[in-house]
Formats: sequence, C-alpha cells, structure tokens
Amino acid sequence: MPRLRLLGLAASLLATGATSLTGQPAEPALASYTRAQAEAGEETYQDVCASCHKQDLGGASDTPQLAGDTFLGMWGGRPAAELFAYVNAAMPPAGRKPDAETLMNVVAYILKKNGMPSGRTPLNAAAPGMVARPADGL
Ligand code: HEC
Repeated sequence: MPRLRLLGLAASLLATGATSLTGQPAEPALASYTRAQAEAGEETYQDVCASCHKQDLGGASDTPQLAGDTFLGMWGGRPAAELFAYVNAAMPPAGRKPDAETLMNVVAYILKKNGMPSGRTPLNAAAPGMVARPADGL
C-alpha cells in the first residue's frame, strides 16, 4: 500500500513536470519549516508526546511511529497541513493541550526527524508543502 502510494506520487510528479513546462505553476513540493520551529517543537514533543510515541519517535506496540518508514508509508505524499490538522484535532488524546502554534512546531520537529531539511519558510496551516523524504523524489 505505501509502495502504491509512492508510485502514485511519482506519477503525479511526472505529470506536474509536464504541466510546468507549459507555464502552469508547479505543484507544491516538500513542506518547509524553520530550524527554530523544529527546536521549539522538540522541547514540546519530549514534554507532551514522548511518553506515548517515545523519545526517538519510534512508537510502541500500541502507539504509532512518528519517524521512519512506517510513518512515511502513512503520511508520505500527504500535505503537512493535513498532518498538522490531525495533531491539532487529536493529539495528545488527553490531558494538557498545547496551543496551535506550539503543535505546529511539534509537526516541524516530526518533519525534521523524518529527514526533511529546514528552510526559510515557516511551516503554517495554509502552506501547501508535502510530507516526504527528499530521497523519495520531491
Ligand atoms: C496518551 C498517549 C499519546 C500521547 C501523549 C500522544 N499520542 Fe499521538 N497517538 C497516540 C495513539 C494511541 C495514536 C493512534 C491513533 C489513535 O488511536 O488515536 C496516535 C496517533 C498519532 C499520530 C498519527 C500517526 C499515524 O501514523 O497515523 C500522530 C501524527 C500523533 N499521534 C502525534 C502526536 C503528537 C505530536 C503528540 C504530542 C503533541 C502526541 N501524538 C501525543 C497516543 C498518544
């Protein structure tokens, strides 16, 4: 299933390449976040999320992984804004709820731990960028 999704992504990227030759704006590529966001997010992650998802984002038997192949199989090729919307709506499942900006920083940290590079443009809910490893072709 993840493989199929990646193939689909590759196909849509090829299609995008074709349309951008005709002068259409290119499809969104990798989501961008700043290093400052990821650094702030790491602190919140360890404080609020690590008890379930583990310090290394590896997850546990009853908690999904947030960095690695399993996570990317689930979220690769989907907008980072969608990942944020999920986290903002559902995480943490109980207890103290950080505000949206703080959770945005946590999502930036998750992107970082999945090998995505930081940049100048901060991650925000309206940004069109995707979750994916750079090596996956974006
Ligand atoms: C009390 C344990 C717990 C805490 C704390 C927690 N989570 Fe989760 N998280 C889960 C469980 C369990 C799931 C699986 C979905 C479900 O059953 O709701 C999940 C699912 C997720 C998913 C979806 C993963 C996937 O592959 O679909 C993301 C992303 C996520 N959590 C991020 C976070 C973030 C970010 C925080 C901290 C702000 C956090 N979680 C805090 C237990 C937790």
